[in-house]
Amino acid sequence: MHLPAITGHGVFTPSQVITNEELVVAFNAYADRWNADNAEAIAAGEIEAKAHSSSEFITAASGIEQRFVLDKSGILDPEVMHPWLRERSDDEPGQMAEMALDACGKALEMAGVAASDVDLVICAASNHERAYPAIAVEIQQLLGAGGFAFDMNVACSSATFGIQAAADMVRSGSVKRALVVNPEICSAHLEWRDRDCHFIFGDVCTAVLIERDDLAKGAKFIIRSTRCATQFSNNIRNNNGFLRRTREGHMEDRRDMQFMQNGRKVFKEVLPMVSKHIADHMADDGINAEALRRLWLHQANKTMNDFIGKKVYGRTPEPGEQPNILQDYANTSSAGSIIAFSKYSDDLHAGDLGLICSFGAGYSVGSVILERRD
Ligand code: COA
Repeated sequence: MHLPAITGHGVFTPSQVITNEELVVAFNAYADRWNADNAEAIAAGEIEAKAHSSSEFITAASGIEQRFVLDKSGILDPEVMHPWLRERSDDEPGQMAEMALDACGKALEMAGVAASDVDLVICAASNHERAYPAIAVEIQQLLGAGGFAFDMNVACSSATFGIQAAADMVRSGSVKRALVVNPEICSAHLEWRDRDCHFIFGDVCTAVLIERDDLAKGAKFIIRSTRCATQFSNNIRNNNGFLRRTREGHMEDRRDMQFMQNGRKVFKEVLPMVSKHIADHMADDGINAEALRRLWLHQANKTMNDFIGKKVYGRTPEPGEQPNILQDYANTSSAGSIIAFSKYSDDLHAGDLGLICSFGAGYSVGSVILERRD
């Protein structure tokens, strides 16, 4: 058996930013237009008028202040309310592969590894831009990696589930080096016309390189153990899929073809699941809270993270122990905990322990316990 280690990581951040204020101006303009267009039905009590959104609500309810997106022009146009993403021809790199190349390139550079020495690429994300060929195989080819590649989807937990799959293969010897990459174009599956959730998501891509410990050239994070769990729930759901054209009815503008959630229920049901999951994982790895230097959590909601941080540490975490990035990136689905890891891990010293945890639709929760080694 070999020891797997994370030896490189990278984040691709889109260049365009939408602040809460910009977002709310666009949403309110859209709501006003919609209300004017439907004035008669609203007056007759047949439908409800759309209420305004507010940046104060967004910050207070979520902790989110802004988000990065691939295209803000469409999202902020009250007549469009979704990103404009140019359709790629079959002969050019797809949108997800393009983001992945950037993040993977950074991870490989950090580790000092040539792409040709990678023998597994897992593209783990909440949505994939086509059914097949797998995005991961396209990324493998564009990078010039060897071996094999496949896509996987466990919604917000895709990254940690991908890390477990890759780490297990490195451990068993079936691969030597694996890239787990998470291109998340959340802006394309968010319903920007629904004020309950229009502020939630942003776009990003993260990547980690997992190698056999004895092949690593520099500083690394040993993957001590991983743990994944799932439990079916409809409280976070997106019904879009390949059967949509084969069913009856008007499919194009159905609300359930984008991200839907019952946020309150998610809050209530996922928090205990995650807290217990982390506590059990740490206990089985022989780690107590005092030994945990850092907690890199899924980035959906600040109150949620504060709650989990407090449960895990048994006290309010010290500044820096449980870093949040959601104020800048919003919820980036599976990539959130990896952005936090990538931005807040360099200062750890040999022997320091940290835990990555992601959670979300499924329900699903995944955790990875890391130990820094120089
Ligand atoms: N602007 C102003 N008011 C808004 C609003 C907006 N954009 N969106 C909702 N409101 C209103 C609601 O209509 C509601 O009004 P009411 O009390 O009169 O009914 C009130 O604000 C509270 O709404 P609610 O949806 O209950 O807010 P919340 O405090 O639960 O926060 C979330 C909403 C989504 C931020 C929160 O539930 C959450 O983060 N849940 C977990 C999300 C999660 O982790 N999901 C995983 C996805 S991967």
